[in-house]
Amino acid sequence: MKLKSVEEIIPQIRVVLRLDLDLPFFDNKIIDNSRLQKSLPTIRLLLEKKCKILIIGHRGRPNGIEDKYTLRPVYLELMSLLEPEGESLIESVFMPEINFEQIDQALAVNNLVFLENIRFWPEEENNTASFLAPLSGFCQAYVNDAFAVAHRAHASITLWQHLPSFYGLSFIEEYNHLVSLGNPSRPLTLILGGAKEDKLKHLDKLISHCDHILIGGKLPQLLSLVDPKIIPAILTPDTFDINEESIAKFTEIINNSKTIIWAGAMGFYENENYRNGTEKIARAIAATTAYKVVAGGDTSASVLNLNLKDKYDFFCSGGGVLLEFLVNPNLPAWSN
Ligand code: 3PG
Repeated sequence: MKLKSVEEIIPQIRVVLRLDLDLPFFDNKIIDNSRLQKSLPTIRLLLEKKCKILIIGHRGRPNGIEDKYTLRPVYLELMSLLEPEGESLIESVFMPEINFEQIDQALAVNNLVFLENIRFWPEEENNTASFLAPLSGFCQAYVNDAFAVAHRAHASITLWQHLPSFYGLSFIEEYNHLVSLGNPSRPLTLILGGAKEDKLKHLDKLISHCDHILIGGKLPQLLSLVDPKIIPAILTPDTFDINEESIAKFTEIINNSKTIIWAGAMGFYENENYRNGTEKIARAIAATTAYKVVAGGDTSASVLNLNLKDKYDFFCSGGGVLLEFLVNPNLPAWSN
């Protein structure tokens, strides 16, 4: 499938840009801004084309409007990346609510309008077709550069139904990498971790794709499927990390693998006291000659923090999307 690139957009139009804004936070601070960094080329390209940009994205899984999930700090982080010297050449504004008349007016006087967490409104996750459709009244194109949510049938992901659609530079790059995983060198080892139970959703189907599935993070406590290919870690007594015996067992399998796909930290990575398992696994994978893919915020952050970036072949922005793609590459983000 050929994805239409943002490069094809004509200049000076208004563009709705869906980004991955779900950055990892700890103590109310952003601990890794890679997801913003990866979309900077697309944002800069649109600004060079003198397009007006309406940025939409989500943070976390809020239940209605919850201040702790506001995107305001992500907006400020993006502006400081775009204008590191505080130049103020880009006129921008943060919009705390969805009022289409106000958005229209804001786009008239700003280069960039940044909308509050789109998941504050239930219509987003319900994929209500009419929710964002009014944008087509005053915007001319939709660009998706949010690969980490390409598997979500949500209103801001299926907006291609209402506007001429394009894909961001980073989205296309990630897509091409995942397609190349279709015929992996074997043994293929999949390592799952983190806290999101949905990673286990397709385990039964993933078994047929993989030679080994190693499971850490919170997931061993949530696992119900038993299969010789699946190896759940034994957790430390406080359950916040995997134990040394499991690290050794996982390392042995990693050493014999030709392709390694890693999605999810082995422990409660946000807290530096529980990084032992994640860091040892990150180093073990880095030391192999296998083709190495790492997916998701904390997992990628651990690799970057250990200065192992060059040892890995591909960073996928989301673990969930990678697993869904392996099982069924026909995702809701693909426009027809
Ligand atoms: C992610 O962090 O992988 C994406 O933001 C997707 O989040 P979700 O699983 O809450 O849809």
